[in-house]
Amino acid sequence: MRISIFGSGYVGLVQAAVFADVGHRVICMDIDAHRVEQLKRGDVPFFEPGLSEIVIRGVQSGLLTFTTDTKTAVENSDFLFICVGTPPLGDDSPNLKHLMSVVDSIVEHINGRKVVINKSTVPVGTADAVTARITKGMLQDGRNHSFEVCSNPEFLKEGSAVADARNPDRIIVGTRSNDTVEEFRRIYAAFNRNRDKLMFMDPRSAEMTKYAANAMLATKISFINEIANIAETVGADIELVRQGIGADSRIGYQFIYPGAGYGGSCFPKDVRALKHLAHAAGCEASILTAVHDTNQRQKNKLAERVIARLGANLKGKTIAVWGLAFKPNTSDMREAPSRFLLENIWSCGGEVRVFDPEAMQVCKGIYGERDDMTYVSSKDEALEGADCLVICTEWKTFWSPDFEAIKKALSEPIIVDGRNLYDPSYLAKIGIEYYGIGRGLSVTGTAPALN
Ligand SMILES: NC(=O)c1ccc[n+]([C@@H]2O[C@H](COP(=O)([O-])OP(=O)(O)OC[C@H]3O[C@@H](n4cnc5c(N)ncnc54)[C@H](O)[C@@H]3O)[C@@H](O)[C@H]2O)c1
Repeated sequence: MRISIFGSGYVGLVQAAVFADVGHRVICMDIDAHRVEQLKRGDVPFFEPGLSEIVIRGVQSGLLTFTTDTKTAVENSDFLFICVGTPPLGDDSPNLKHLMSVVDSIVEHINGRKVVINKSTVPVGTADAVTARITKGMLQDGRNHSFEVCSNPEFLKEGSAVADARNPDRIIVGTRSNDTVEEFRRIYAAFNRNRDKLMFMDPRSAEMTKYAANAMLATKISFINEIANIAETVGADIELVRQGIGADSRIGYQFIYPGAGYGGSCFPKDVRALKHLAHAAGCEASILTAVHDTNQRQKNKLAERVIARLGANLKGKTIAVWGLAFKPNTSDMREAPSRFLLENIWSCGGEVRVFDPEAMQVCKGIYGERDDMTYVSSKDEALEGADCLVICTEWKTFWSPDFEAIKKALSEPIIVDGRNLYDPSYLAKIGIEYYGIGRGLSVTGTAPALN
């Protein structure tokens, strides 16, 4: 099938490559000329496991091409997927300017029937707004091509985006046309073999499903973080509590890991956007407000731990930081907890030595070269001359380190662990001062006396 994808970021590039890999002819359009040139050479601009191989395969087969030209992308395809960013504006609503600019190019170059499919995460009602904009645009120029606007929200997870796109849990399609139902069945045939994953609904429900899914997942994270903070204060161990509640099949183990707060390009902005949408519609959103506020507080947790232990004046102190990406298997640092940590340490006068297996270049792009930050090329190097170690991302390489080497390298053997990777009693036994999240016994040593 002839598909164009607008936006070659995490969503657009993965979907384009996965579509081309099953035989669709895909044109990927982006306004970023540098990125397009890189991609034409098969050079993927960010880290995502398995993506490079299928991009290279697509480019070599000729099924996957890249362009900055909107005319080429609109005229030569029947299915136009919009996958551009929708970052938050100051009032928390998503900025739809990139999306509307794609819509305007579609209006400009439309040359026959088109199915416009929005994959970006957008407020409820956007498909209707896009329909109105295309209709109005064509009327102004006296043109009348048939078109459909559908919502096909994306649920892939960075770090396993290729696997998720190839094997989605469900494929949500918001459409009001029977013709497009059949077309979606053909577009997604290769990903719909094992059971029918396509779920058709009206566009507004599809748009709402995306926000509701992310809000639910963010709620689970903020919930467990709140419970972790209580557990810590009353002398309980959240890791035992987590397993205790996860065993309940109504709760389950997924998304109840305590940590340093959720980050990334989706949960923070989508929770805020849904809150904004609710308020604009005159609805209460007290749970969403609490989820967001809890997360913001949680992101300061690691710095608070460091300050509680080393003092608020960190001049002359160096903190080793393991992990910068907002989660493992990605180089993405958008709204990452590590950024809260770094910025808090700097504001207290401290210095950092940072290491991440994939996010070093991204970090340099954000913060550049600074006197109070040393970029190093291994986790061991990060420890040299540092006063304590803070873990922000649970990359596999951090799970089983040489603890004796850590003890030797740090001026004091202190680990602040934002991901609960280690066993507090073992670390206590080998003489490492260890602070996890919600591990009451490791913090207080004993449970508080009960009256
Ligand atoms: N990243 C994720 O894990 C994820 C998951 C599900 C949904 N989403 C949603 O998908 C959308 C895209 O997210 P992303 O992470 O891929 O964004 P991204 O920032 O990685 O990529 C967006 C791309 O769009 C390009 N672009 C901007 N304006 C354009 C235009 N007018 N024409 C063509 N290209 C244009 C940018 O240059 C960039 O390459 C967002 O709405 C996001 O919320 C993201």
